[in-house]
Amino acid sequence: MADDLKILIVDDEPIIIRSCEAILKSEGYNVEGTLGAKKAILRMEQQPYDLVFTDLKMPEVDGITLIRWIKQKRPDTGIVIITGYPSQDTIKDALELGIIDYVPKPFTPAVLLDVTRRAVEWVKGKAPVVKKEKEELPPSMLQEIDRIINQYKNKPGSSIPVLQRCQGIVGYLPPVVQKRIAKGLNTTPAEIHSIVSFYSFFTMKPRGDHNIRICLGTACYVKRVEEVLNKIKGDLKIAVGEVTEDKKFSLETVRCLGACGLAPVMVIDEETYGAMNPKKVPDIIEKYR
Ligand code: FES
Repeated sequence: MADDLKILIVDDEPIIIRSCEAILKSEGYNVEGTLGAKKAILRMEQQPYDLVFTDLKMPEVDGITLIRWIKQKRPDTGIVIITGYPSQDTIKDALELGIIDYVPKPFTPAVLLDVTRRAVEWVKGKAPVVKKEKEELPPSMLQEIDRIINQYKNKPGSSIPVLQRCQGIVGYLPPVVQKRIAKGLNTTPAEIHSIVSFYSFFTMKPRGDHNIRICLGTACYVKRVEEVLNKIKGDLKIAVGEVTEDKKFSLETVRCLGACGLAPVMVIDEETYGAMNPKKVPDIIEKYR
């Protein structure tokens, strides 16, 4: 059983709802679906959900209107968008409203489960993670972060450069840093978090000397990238999002690396490895030891 969080899927395409329900239920998630934002609002007026996955383009009431309603009436609900156009422009409004993450259409079961796992972690672990990490950042680092925030304060479009520079200092963007930036720039932690989730060059966890990214997009998935992923997890003895004990390798999954013709694809640091299979893994990893 995954956990007891309640998830609501909102889309105007019944096939998307059915697919999400089937995939998430098979992993033990407590999930329901509803056709369109209007029905979702009626349902959420009656009962709360921990996570809502919503399409953006829907007739009658669109996804942005639903997100605004949730933010006002059910602010504790985490929001993930499902979109066929995950470009900066099309989801700009959603990012500004503070979504946790997005699922691109068409999506593979692996991508949906990966995004769900991270969204559930976020919903369940917000407060304790911040508290624990607060004690771990040295004061000099916090001072430097504040200096950067003050430099950009009141300037439009400052979130991304501030996040980039802070990641340069800390190495990653833990919740304590995201919260500090949000406060300093007079925005919400959810908005900062959604920017960090959306851009793959931001990371919320420390990375190893060599960062391995495995593509879970459709082209790679149908060419059995999961077998490659499982081999790497087994050989390095880490799960996705973790770093090896010697800090040499970290492992991440991504939704498409833009090299679908080479599927299945793995990238280590800046090097792309196409047509991957589990047998190739040991020799490639050895080059980085
Ligand atoms: S789906 Fe893997 S590179 Fe595009």
